[in-house]
Amino acid sequence: MQALPNLILIGPMGAGKSTIGRLLAAELSREFYDSDHEIQARCGADIPWIFDVEGEAGFRDRETQMIRELTRREGVVIATGGGAVLREENRRVLRESGTVIYLLTTVEQQLRRTAKDRNRPLLQRGDREQLLRDMFALRDPLYRATADVVVRTDRRGPRAVVNEIVRRVTR
Ligand code: S3P
Repeated sequence: MQALPNLILIGPMGAGKSTIGRLLAAELSREFYDSDHEIQARCGADIPWIFDVEGEAGFRDRETQMIRELTRREGVVIATGGGAVLREENRRVLRESGTVIYLLTTVEQQLRRTAKDRNRPLLQRGDREQLLRDMFALRDPLYRATADVVVRTDRRGPRAVVNEIVRRVTR
């Protein structure tokens, strides 16, 4: 029997991956896994601590390992961290395990959604808007190359986004 494909959410910080992932999983009666959450639970420390002590490379190694593990599951919804597409290995593993959905948003929306955030080390390194614009320029082509479906999340609430995803991926 064919394995039930996973539904994998990719996209930048503040696109709504965790919120939409949780709602999507509930809507389809599937299990939900948030990669960042799983990394923190396994490590017993939060993401800023991991970046401080192990550097970004250390965090990326943990992320690659977690993506490998989560994608071995079947029929689950997975929310990835915004930088998951940076490594070619991750892009390949994500694509092979199911349907990849790019949650596309604007930098303006990201700025609003991350305004009071202290849990994202990459946004503490200078002007947040410039950091987000630079990341978008680098990563948008990677998100697009990895995704089967692109869904905008900046113009409506999470419920409407979930409805669109369900419509487009479960036919
Ligand atoms: C990161 C995004 C974060 C988290 C880490 C690095 C990134 O996840 O994985 O801070 O490189 O964009 P979210 O996209 O869930 O904020």
